[in-house]
Amino acid sequence: MKIQFYSAQSYDRTFFDKANQHFGFALSYLDTPLSAKTASLAAGAQAVCAFVNDTLDEACLYALKQQGVMWVALRCAGFNQVDLEAAAELGIRVVRVPGYSPEAVAEHTLALILTLNRHTHRAYNRVRESNFQLNGLLGFNLHGKTVGLIGTGQIGLATARILRGFGCHLLAFDPYPSADFEALGGSYVTLDEIYAQSDIISLHCPLSLENHHLINGAAIAAMKPGVMLVNTSRGGLVDTRSAILALKSGQIGYLALDVYEQESEFFFRDLSDEIMSDDDLSRLMTFPNVLITGHQGFFTEEALTQIAEITLSNLQALSEQGECVNEINRHLD
Ligand code: NAI
Repeated sequence: MKIQFYSAQSYDRTFFDKANQHFGFALSYLDTPLSAKTASLAAGAQAVCAFVNDTLDEACLYALKQQGVMWVALRCAGFNQVDLEAAAELGIRVVRVPGYSPEAVAEHTLALILTLNRHTHRAYNRVRESNFQLNGLLGFNLHGKTVGLIGTGQIGLATARILRGFGCHLLAFDPYPSADFEALGGSYVTLDEIYAQSDIISLHCPLSLENHHLINGAAIAAMKPGVMLVNTSRGGLVDTRSAILALKSGQIGYLALDVYEQESEFFFRDLSDEIMSDDDLSRLMTFPNVLITGHQGFFTEEALTQIAEITLSNLQALSEQGECVNEINRHLD
């Protein structure tokens, strides 16, 4: 089977070539993103392997079908970038990697929280300039603070386990509550209660049509003044303009983003020689209490190993058994 990779980085090649020693597929790598314009590059492939910022809309899927592509293998958990209805109509089957190392993203979430909380991003730069003053670096203890998790699937739960170790009170909202979260001492509450009571709010739910801009001006206004907001989930969950206004007024005290609404134009690329064209991203980067990372929550040795293994075994299951446990059903959309 030939698998055409899109948006492939050197590390994708390293981990997939290693995993492929057990599978023997023909892997072809392109750093080009997948869209309707680039779908023709999949000619001769039975499957394409796509990532978070590829655009698998109806036009793209139709063009893939024209090339004879039968399967789309997402090498990520989220699937908001795929028009699942169009895929089903075209008979293209879509698989993903639902549960690779949730601890990778959970631990990155904690790295963001602890960096902002103790200002280590600023301390690092200060000390390198031989400035050992502490003014402006005052933090707060995580112990005893209330953390609201929106989404308690694999990553939300892994985050809750770590936060419990810090002595935090755990609240969560999830339409499908988990007994595991309650066993950790956490309580399910409404979104309004999360906003009203949480010192830190962390997003761990998928992006869907219904929850686009879940964190908008009204939601932010309902939060505690000075709240810390963390998004390692999907950029579209947060209305960036409202977040900027709230940072200016102090309503948001700290903002950590591993994902950004318009990230597909910027993330995973070196643009250091170019002028930043996105005014909102530029503005966000001027705040001392904003920490942005370029969608690296998943980026650990353990996670990449699992992503490669699971992606290739998903395609093997589809081709050999005609079904795969990690196939995305249309009703999930
Ligand atoms: P999961 O499927 O295990 O859990 C998602 C949870 O969110 C489920 O319990 C579901 O019931 C809940 N949920 C759905 N809609 C909701 C809503 N409107 N409000 C509250 N909860 C809702 O997914 P997992 O593995 O925990 O991943 C969560 C998200 O993290 C993914 O959808 C993806 O967007 C993001 N992610 C980010 C990565 C990164 O590198 N920053 C890497 C992997 C995933």
